[in-house]
Amino acid sequence: MKRIAVFTSGGDAPGMNACIRAVVRGAIYYEVEVYGIYQGYQGMIAGDMVKMESYSVSNILQRGGTILKSARSDDFKTKAGRKLAYNNLNAKGIEGVIAIGGDGSFTGATIFYEEYGIPIIGIPGTIDNDIYGTDKTIGFDTAVNTTLDAIDKIRDTADSHGRIFFIEVMGRDSGYIAIQSAIGGGAESVILPERDVTAEDVVSNLQDGIRRDKSFSIVVVAEKDDPGYSVELANAVKEAITDKDIRVTILGHIQRGGAPTATDRTLASRLGLGAVEGLLDGKKDVMVGIVNDDMIYTPLKDAISKDKPLNPDLIRAMKILSL
Ligand code: F6P
Repeated sequence: MKRIAVFTSGGDAPGMNACIRAVVRGAIYYEVEVYGIYQGYQGMIAGDMVKMESYSVSNILQRGGTILKSARSDDFKTKAGRKLAYNNLNAKGIEGVIAIGGDGSFTGATIFYEEYGIPIIGIPGTIDNDIYGTDKTIGFDTAVNTTLDAIDKIRDTADSHGRIFFIEVMGRDSGYIAIQSAIGGGAESVILPERDVTAEDVVSNLQDGIRRDKSFSIVVVAEKDDPGYSVELANAVKEAITDKDIRVTILGHIQRGGAPTATDRTLASRLGLGAVEGLLDGKKDVMVGIVNDDMIYTPLKDAISKDKPLNPDLIRAMKILSL
């Protein structure tokens, strides 16, 4: 393999730049040319790609976002779009592709591989940590640290005013960010997409705390399909707890930005190099991940379809420690 391409796709995640750097530097180390494709699959369809050199990725390791930009592409979901994308890769003589993204990006990658047979390796880059085949996804650790910074600050004002705060975090249909934020942020309650918890349960939990002389409380809420669920929940709780001020903070996209943590920089660097080495080793249609500190390659189909359930021990610890 003499020429490969790399792109970022879906929601961006802190550490994607460190990963691009690792792919580019890894490829150059093995004397393979590397192209950067802009805007994910959309740029592949438009033929928007440039050859990258070692200096193209200097001074980006520590930066959030992605220098290759990102997009969610509807055109790539069509056969015509994928044909255009393949023609563009073919015209440039690209023999292997590395996709940094989440499950939506991997679904596109595996369909593309089935249709055109071009070797593709996925790298899990999403703050949600909802991908099977890796203990952690790139960006997750940074996102949780960002939520903790926010929760610590909100805790100060919650304490001063004796208020109940609902803090909504990202994660779509996965509660990883929420449970880690709740444990690390010392929350009284956590609402996870994986568990059915009613407003009545939250009220009863908060009232227990008030009876035990808690002067303020933090409830971490995982967003559902759309942001704003915490407002609905807080309004329901306000009807039952009338003698406390209740406020809501939705953290939103602040969780997707910022400098990656040490953990994310290391993870992104290892996975980027692991993807290049996997391609050169003949691997295709797989995702590179790190499980128990070992680099492993999982079929993309499994990475997309298999569940990565929350560790029940986290939920148990959360319940005991929020007493
Ligand atoms: O998948 C990453 C993520 O940040 C989710 O946690 C969130 O639900 C979603 O993306 C938001 O997507 P968008 O940036 O398109 O609004």
